[in-house]
Amino acid sequence: MISFSKDLIVDYLKSEDSEVHDFLLEKAERYRLENRDKAVYFRGLIEYSNICSQNCYYCGLRRDNRLIKRYHLERDEIINLAMQAYNAGYQSICLQAGQISSNKEVDFVADVVATIKKLSESKGQGLGITLSLGELSYRQYQQLWDAGAHRYLLRIETSNPLLFKKIHPPDQSFNQRLECLQALREIGYQVGTGVMIGLPGQSYEDLAQDLQFFQEKDIDMLGMGPYIPHPDTPLAGEQEEFIPDAFATTIRMLALARILMPDINMVASTALQSIHPDGLKMGLKAGANIVMPILTPEENRRDYMLYANKKHSAFETLQQDIKAASYEPALWQWGDSPHYFKRKEEHA
Ligand code: 5AD
Repeated sequence: MISFSKDLIVDYLKSEDSEVHDFLLEKAERYRLENRDKAVYFRGLIEYSNICSQNCYYCGLRRDNRLIKRYHLERDEIINLAMQAYNAGYQSICLQAGQISSNKEVDFVADVVATIKKLSESKGQGLGITLSLGELSYRQYQQLWDAGAHRYLLRIETSNPLLFKKIHPPDQSFNQRLECLQALREIGYQVGTGVMIGLPGQSYEDLAQDLQFFQEKDIDMLGMGPYIPHPDTPLAGEQEEFIPDAFATTIRMLALARILMPDINMVASTALQSIHPDGLKMGLKAGANIVMPILTPEENRRDYMLYANKKHSAFETLQQDIKAASYEPALWQWGDSPHYFKRKEEHA
């Protein structure tokens, strides 16, 4: 495993020398082509509910935001969206929602997952199912795994416990998040995590530590995006200093992540695509190999604004953009993280 010292990572992130930027991108591209290929895999994102028990200071879906209309799709709506995705060539979907940790809700999701598995498998390889539902209990994660989900995304948001504390209310704990990540790993999920970049009070040292955290936790999947203030959240009014260019820093973070972890899956996040017209292309160039097109029904999308001006590109447009950036849209393939299989073999 390659490792960089924290100081070196900070230097790479901070440097104002454009040659450093180009060097990182070239190296990331080389590592990606040597270890992977030009394939870009799709995860159809179904944001089936914006009801959330949590009150994160940065997120538009936070419990106390009364300005959005709360919705929760019906069982059959979710299943239909998943099957439409399957028929259109997606091999994977991601079910994402605000956090609801009641057993009733988890039973609901487990049933949806099991039904999607059964229906899609009756027509071939079946859909790969990723979940992104926040912090649940070990038993609940196990139940969802048993139902057929096999990947889980749970961002740590920042690996600095003090910063974590500043952006979350007191009842949400950093350690609890770590325990969830550990539980997911033990159960057997492919585990994805990630951070926001450019948070108020976040330093380059914090970001360097984030990369080391991902390596240390031996993660399979990574999602990093710029922090984009949402006007109806407490953090939007935060005056504390932040790093000057969240977009460029995110690109460098992606490139460094690809160099340090050549065999993980890494997403070109929606946030990255939302703050810059070339977000997708630059993300791919920096080593991202996953894109998550939004399949949430049109009428619900405006109520799933995690941050201001969240953008949405159609599946076809994304495919064209990927080709234009000289990568290859990989339909009909699961595209699991090779890192996951390697670590499974090592521990077999
Ligand atoms: N800016 C950028 N990303 C955000 N998320 C939530 N709020 C914001 C924001 N204001 C991200 C978090 C969360 C994921 C689902 O969305 O990292 O884990």
